[in-house]
Amino acid sequence: MAEAVSWLSVKLALIGYGNVGRALVPMLRQNSAGFPFTVTGIHTLHHGTAIDRAGLTERPEFGPRAESVEAFLNAAGADIAVELTTLNPSTGEPAIGHIRAAFDRGMHVVTANKGPIAHAYAGLRDRACQAGLVFRFESAVMDGAPVFNLWENALPGLKVLGFTGALNSTSKVVIETMESGGTFESGVAAARSMGITEGDGAFDVEGWDSAAKTAALANVLMNAQTTPQQVSTRGIGKLTPGRVQEIARQGKTVRLISRARRTSSGITLRVRAEVIDKADILAAVPGTGNLILFHTDLMGTFGTISIEPLVQQTAYGVFSDLVNVARLVS
Ligand SMILES: NC(=O)c1ccc[n+]([C@@H]2O[C@H](COP(=O)([O-])OP(=O)(O)OC[C@H]3O[C@@H](n4cnc5c(N)ncnc54)[C@H](OP(=O)(O)O)[C@@H]3O)[C@@H](O)[C@H]2O)c1
Repeated sequence: MAEAVSWLSVKLALIGYGNVGRALVPMLRQNSAGFPFTVTGIHTLHHGTAIDRAGLTERPEFGPRAESVEAFLNAAGADIAVELTTLNPSTGEPAIGHIRAAFDRGMHVVTANKGPIAHAYAGLRDRACQAGLVFRFESAVMDGAPVFNLWENALPGLKVLGFTGALNSTSKVVIETMESGGTFESGVAAARSMGITEGDGAFDVEGWDSAAKTAALANVLMNAQTTPQQVSTRGIGKLTPGRVQEIARQGKTVRLISRARRTSSGITLRVRAEVIDKADILAAVPGTGNLILFHTDLMGTFGTISIEPLVQQTAYGVFSDLVNVARLVS
């Protein structure tokens, strides 16, 4: 069992310090009066490792990279490991290994990385539970808008029959860029400049990001025990500006839609670029916005929408998880 920690001294070890990590650290600082976390270590792939058990400064000095994530976690001596490394949608690694290493050291884990939830959720959940540790991942699917915490806290006894979502911001930015006369590539570049693309932008437009989100949602909400490879996926890669503008002239648009359904023969999971009416609720959220509708037994269909989320909203989802973990364990 993990030991209880004092709320006033919750120490964090960040694995990964890219867009999300760099948005999280100032948020922690701005809210330090009410939520006094201390970052004791940051570990990256190319930029080295920074450790100070008394608390890193706002502009940490990075030294040589720790020889392994295990060595980093041992040195940081934190209560919570915050896993913010690049998504690998085909395996979920190295993040799964990072999370296991944190659990092995009695650390709670918060991640924004959907790979581990999409590939290894049940095993990680059970491992955390056996060790008396908390495992949170609110930002993995909708950039901090409440999805998993909603289910955990507000909807007892509800059964998820399926879900429908427009969950990939980059594809939407690309489609809207082409609708207004730009190229596919300029749409990807626009999304990249907002910090919302995955490390490899192809993961977004080929549907891998959506497949990983679909698998993650199905694993947590429907106990699907699936992987992104088992989601039938086709992305927006074949769309051209000409085709998108022709669809727009008919009052329609394209969205990369995730669909999950519980059927008598199991759970079906699908990602497709669908042509939908501009008045369809799935087309209602522009720009980087995301939308998910849950289909349930007792509450019918309802949903969560995020309007123009940026990387700060992802960081907020991580922040809210950290606060929840600290409340649970202190
Ligand atoms: N950006 C968003 O809006 C958003 C939204 C929802 C979820 N997410 C998820 O949040 C996670 C982080 O996203 P991001 O945009 O911050 O990614 P990013 O900008 O690409 O940063 C990734 C960070 O991880 C580090 N890293 C990669 N492999 C590592 C390894 N093996 N060991 C240690 N560090 C490693 C990188 O180090 P170097 O800097 O040295 O290369 C970098 O600091 C991803 O899993 C992503 O899917 C992001």
